[in-house]
Amino acid sequence: MKLFVTILCILTICSSTVPVYGGWNSLGRVSSYEKQNDGIIISIPPALLSVSVLSPAVIRFHMTPSGSFQTDHSWAVVNTKLGDQKYTISETPDFITIKTSVISVTIMKNPCRILVHDGYGNLLNRDDSVKGMCWSGSDVRVWKTMPRDEQYFGFGEKAGSLGKKWKSFSMWNSDIPAYKADTDPLYQSIPFFYGIRKGLTYGIFLDNTYNTSFSMGKENSSCYSFGAVDGELNYYLIYGPKPVDVIQRFSRLTGTTPLPPKWALGYQQSRWSYYPEQRVRELGATFRNKKIPCDVIYLDIHYMNGYRCFTWDTVRFPNAAGMVKDLAADGFKIVPIIDPGIKNEKGYWVFDEGLLGDHFVRTPEGNPFVGKVWPGDCVFPDFTKINTRSWWGSLYRNLVDIGIAGFWNDMNEPSVFDSPTKTFPDDVMHDDEGRMTDHRKNHNIYGMQMVRATYEGLLKLRPNERPFVLTRANYAGGQRYAAAWTGDNISSWEHLEMAVPMCLNLSISGQSFVGTDIGGFIGNPSGELFARWLQLGIFTPFMRAHTVTGSKDKEPWSYGADFEAINRKSIELRYRLLPYIYTQFYLAERDGMPIMRPVFFDFPEDEETYWQENTFLFGNAFLVAPVLWEDDRQRDVRLPKGIWYDYWTGAKYDGPVSVTVDAPLERIPLFVKGGSIISERSVVQYIDERPLDTLILQIYPSDTSSTVIYEDDGKSFDYRRGIYKLRTVSVTSTDTGYKIRSGKPEGSYKPSARIIQLAVHDVPKSPSAVRLGKRELHEKSGEWKYESIHGIVTVYFPDRGDYFDLRVIK
Ligand code: GLC
Repeated sequence: MKLFVTILCILTICSSTVPVYGGWNSLGRVSSYEKQNDGIIISIPPALLSVSVLSPAVIRFHMTPSGSFQTDHSWAVVNTKLGDQKYTISETPDFITIKTSVISVTIMKNPCRILVHDGYGNLLNRDDSVKGMCWSGSDVRVWKTMPRDEQYFGFGEKAGSLGKKWKSFSMWNSDIPAYKADTDPLYQSIPFFYGIRKGLTYGIFLDNTYNTSFSMGKENSSCYSFGAVDGELNYYLIYGPKPVDVIQRFSRLTGTTPLPPKWALGYQQSRWSYYPEQRVRELGATFRNKKIPCDVIYLDIHYMNGYRCFTWDTVRFPNAAGMVKDLAADGFKIVPIIDPGIKNEKGYWVFDEGLLGDHFVRTPEGNPFVGKVWPGDCVFPDFTKINTRSWWGSLYRNLVDIGIAGFWNDMNEPSVFDSPTKTFPDDVMHDDEGRMTDHRKNHNIYGMQMVRATYEGLLKLRPNERPFVLTRANYAGGQRYAAAWTGDNISSWEHLEMAVPMCLNLSISGQSFVGTDIGGFIGNPSGELFARWLQLGIFTPFMRAHTVTGSKDKEPWSYGADFEAINRKSIELRYRLLPYIYTQFYLAERDGMPIMRPVFFDFPEDEETYWQENTFLFGNAFLVAPVLWEDDRQRDVRLPKGIWYDYWTGAKYDGPVSVTVDAPLERIPLFVKGGSIISERSVVQYIDERPLDTLILQIYPSDTSSTVIYEDDGKSFDYRRGIYKLRTVSVTSTDTGYKIRSGKPEGSYKPSARIIQLAVHDVPKSPSAVRLGKRELHEKSGEWKYESIHGIVTVYFPDRGDYFDLRVIK
């Protein structure tokens, strides 16, 4: 009997063209292929695999087990022609090879497996020889060989450490308050990661909106795998060789964060909830009286009438329009929360309109799906429907009309309190832009399409004003519509420490406008914890303090006079650095450059940086070493290769080097890379308080370096019509002195007249002369000064807005 079964098994395996491993059907022998303009389509019966060239460095692999591809559509991808799509193809009895100018893709014919090499013959990535691409029922998955020394980063919003090797994750947007380091999944799904090995980097973006999962060596130490519970195996392999190249290409594929209104870069104050109206007014007045800069006040759910979106509780807010106007006059923008759950109640205008317009998601029986959120029973807009998105966008009109500046979209995983799955049941139907598919396919993009509807609606209502939208849930590409924060964290030192790698991984996954609830959402931080968190917040692109209902006050002045002074200084530093930060946002829009990024991002050859998760880069000039531990008054920092200056003391270090620096409560350890030029301004109480009267340039010379400084009106889209000013400032340091030049600016934006205050650091002795063009500047008349204690020469001259040539002669 045993022999019979064995023979039967052998016969079955031999007669089948589909090898089976552990329940997975794997790709077998290539039977034929067809050339296309941008690649080839390979038939491996019953499956089809398309390999297409988007640019010399970006290849798409798309496999369907069914023998025909579904209609091609992506919520994330905005651009598939990323560059030269030319390739050459060659064939041997065993292989087909596709070559671009920088990489080659080898397709083994039997069984069909993929290998990718760079132009120097280095193996970048290969399918596992046993399994490779597989399917089982509706599941699709690919197994890849995992080199021992390869590390993994990215994956969007994941808690825990920066490096993701030996871990597994899934992507299913989930509302999990008080999450822990190992809680997975969380609110956002960005199925994109980096593999890096000895400085050589590639990225993989699995563009599938179903529940996807990644196992980075968790089950098998020589393989990693990723896949989805349904849909097609559709992934992009993005070659580097540097991490920066990968993010730039991923950003061209999925879009970047458009420049936000400048006020959204200021300090933002939130709690669940500031009410009534008088309290909101007092909050604003306290900021101004105490001279603590602040741009934005948030209104959480209590401003609404019974949590009905797009309404006001007129008892708590008797004169909302007046409040918004008065606070605006004092420089505050108001950002209210809007959730997707619409109270299921006849007579409530949003419900009535939505029902009439068929805007709510329905059960398979055809009834609007009803689930509980804050207002009780709710129905939910179907943001995957084009009409519904434009209807949703139009709902903001009344709020926009009274001067509301931006919006906060929350609970959009979507979160449903009384559903066993905590979200819509799998069989709830979505329009899916006419494809009519179930919730399993649309869940992960629900939040993204909600913020898209909000963003596009605001664009219609205020066409030449940059919208500001904040979201909790998102999908890859959602950076085009909204900033994101990391949801309901805890007021603990552990969560402060976790905030850094979490924001870094989100940031390098395309979501560059990111931050955490400063002070922690759940619980009451000590003054020290709040102060340290706020210091970290200076260097998260999104800087907002927020807290749960019922918690103690969590404003910068809530912890006594000493902490108030410390917190004021922290916020002031953020405002001082705004010209620099704004330029980083410009680079984020232009190139997809993450503003906050891990040290390895700029130093990929230095493998020690792969483990640095408590230190990070902020733009190209700063290395930030926040204090994340209670009672610590010193901080150990490893500085990578190059010259580094302590921002506070001016101390100079020659990296790579490990140093210990003082970290008193009042300051965050901060280092500036040699060669940097940092643009700063004097402190204002809010961004539009007054135009820049002095542009401060802090120069930390190296042999030769240059930087860009970007400016525009800070609010409109005129910059897209050429009304901006992009300046390149370069510094050369020689034996005879320093040459600082600003080239002719690009763009036609004309800032108001101002002074440039230019400080050259690390100058050992007083210069013999300072010249601006041909004119000699005089120390006696205050045109420049030298401070010997700090070794800084400061020069003052009017900014005529264009070319200057300054010489500081030794
Ligand atoms: C969710 C949000 C939180 C908000 C609360 C009430 O928990 O994550 O930020 O304050 O809902 O709206």
